[in-house]
Amino acid sequence: MAIIIDGKETARKKREEAAARTAALTGRGFVPALAVVLVGENPASLSYVTAKEKALTEAGMQSRDIRFPADTSEEKLLGLIAELNADPLIHGILVQLPLPKHIREDRIITAIDPAKDVDGFHPVSVGNMVLGRPGFLPCTPHGILVLLEESKILTVGAHAVVVGRSNIVGKPLANLLARREINATVTVCHTGSGDLGRYTRQADILIAAAGRAGLITADMVKPGAAVIDVGVNRVPDVSAQKGYRLKGDVDFEAVSVKAAYITPVPGGVGPMTIAMLLLNVVEAAENCLAHR
Ligand code: GUN
Repeated sequence: MAIIIDGKETARKKREEAAARTAALTGRGFVPALAVVLVGENPASLSYVTAKEKALTEAGMQSRDIRFPADTSEEKLLGLIAELNADPLIHGILVQLPLPKHIREDRIITAIDPAKDVDGFHPVSVGNMVLGRPGFLPCTPHGILVLLEESKILTVGAHAVVVGRSNIVGKPLANLLARREINATVTVCHTGSGDLGRYTRQADILIAAAGRAGLITADMVKPGAAVIDVGVNRVPDVSAQKGYRLKGDVDFEAVSVKAAYITPVPGGVGPMTIAMLLLNVVEAAENCLAHR
């Protein structure tokens, strides 16, 4: 039976660290602040931004909550980003993705000042990450690295197989795992990979970030592997109060019998994303104070 990696506990420690660093800044009359922008009413996005705002407040930071209707124009959103870039009281800007179809995400992300890009999505942040230069790391991949480290999962020489190539998780994570200090050998699988199991069965560390409930079944997992489930899929469930329940990309019941380590959904990777965001916001504020 696999050891269940407790993302909530590791996230709690990281949030404590963020709160302590926030208190140090606040003591100097400087309150870290994040603008959280949500366009439209995607229920999953709304629940994510609400959780982020709550965590910010709990850590002693300020959250400026900005909600725009789904039919907001790209120009209007760009105008908001320009204002937030220029606002000295705002240290970080988070635009929740996905955006409505008529808005080009790339234009919006590129408009954010890289110094305030606490999501690590700006091309400058991505470039810095790839080159190993200082900069904001994207929160979910960074949180996964912290979970591997906390659980003492050996990455050096391990074969890590990443399923999914999104800009938010798969692409940056594959890059980070191949860093010299982590030293995994990385395979990236995606919708064009064909027989997925052929690759996943070779994984010492298997990362499921495809966004498909139950995609990874027990026959696709090597005995003793560490399995990290990034999926947060809403599956209909009439017995649940909300009419749905959250299910990961991994068939948890069956895979947990075979793997050595596994993250649950919820309570695994999700809480880490928020914790790493808080740390990025504190860092943005600290950088701002240092350059004043
Ligand atoms: N949508 C899904 N994950 C994320 C995230 O980490 N940041 C933002 N801004 N949008 C997301």
